[in-house]
Amino acid sequence: MTRKIIIDTDPGIDDAVAIAIALYAKELDVQLITTVAGNVGLENVTTNALKLLKFLNKKVPVAKGAKKPLLKTAMSVESVHGKTGMEGYDFPEPDTSLLMNINAVEAMHQVIQSNKEITLVCIGPLTNIALLINSYPDDLKKVKEIVIMGGAIGRGNSGVYSEYNFHFDPESAKIVMDFPVSKVICPLEIGKEALIYPEISEKIKNLNPTGDMFYSLFKRYRGGSFSTGLKMYDSTAIAYLLAPEIYQLSSEYVAIETKGEFTQGASLIDINKKMGKEENATVAIDVNADEFRKWFVSAVEKCKVG
Ligand code: BDR
Ligand code: CA
Repeated sequence: MTRKIIIDTDPGIDDAVAIAIALYAKELDVQLITTVAGNVGLENVTTNALKLLKFLNKKVPVAKGAKKPLLKTAMSVESVHGKTGMEGYDFPEPDTSLLMNINAVEAMHQVIQSNKEITLVCIGPLTNIALLINSYPDDLKKVKEIVIMGGAIGRGNSGVYSEYNFHFDPESAKIVMDFPVSKVICPLEIGKEALIYPEISEKIKNLNPTGDMFYSLFKRYRGGSFSTGLKMYDSTAIAYLLAPEIYQLSSEYVAIETKGEFTQGASLIDINKKMGKEENATVAIDVNADEFRKWFVSAVEKCKVG
């Protein structure tokens, strides 16, 4: 049986890779892509999603979401993904016919209402999901699971203790984490562990045109380094859906810091049970990195543009 998913994303080079893998996985049925400001601004990330779909020749509706975090000022990481957010490859013009004329929250609401069970895969800041919870809390009863790339068990990549997606919009991350719905977290450590080494990049370059496009993006991507290993953070959420056996999963209480002077957006993943709270998420606390790399190569092999 295929699993119906909505991908909420801020492409983003690692987002683009995750989206492509999901679109070609026969176990997944991508019903909708929603965009959110994150790696770069909303216009760029939306254009990037539409360009990617054109390249992949896939017709999935795209709905634009939040331009900024709930309370904080937006940040951006051009240094990691390039000025447009998806630099390093000369993409075709975006397929604008796929852009819906309703916003991300309304589009998610429609898809959730017309499907029995849907999984939300969130690989950007959680602003759209927090807004969905605010507008349509009952929709979450129909959501099977929310799979999130975000947070860190230890130190962060944006703040000292904050991972980028949660640091960008801590209030939204808190709203989602505190909401009673099934959640899975693939934190920063998984992407750091399951590095994509140059020999893997070389291998995928020769698999098919999608692999070749990824290779060009990888040369520009600064999530890690091409020569010592790239971090495919957002693909770790897709790997949870397609190959969960590569993870060690643990039920944990996860709190989000929104008030700390230096720690906003930090995720307190209470592995040592210090907080005395009931678990609210399943967390990938370890990964078999070699198996992840094997899975990654075989997933890219399936991305044959038709
Ligand atoms: C996350 O932040 C973004 O830069 C990546 O796309 C990923 O979603 C990693 O911290
Ligand atoms: Ca992302």
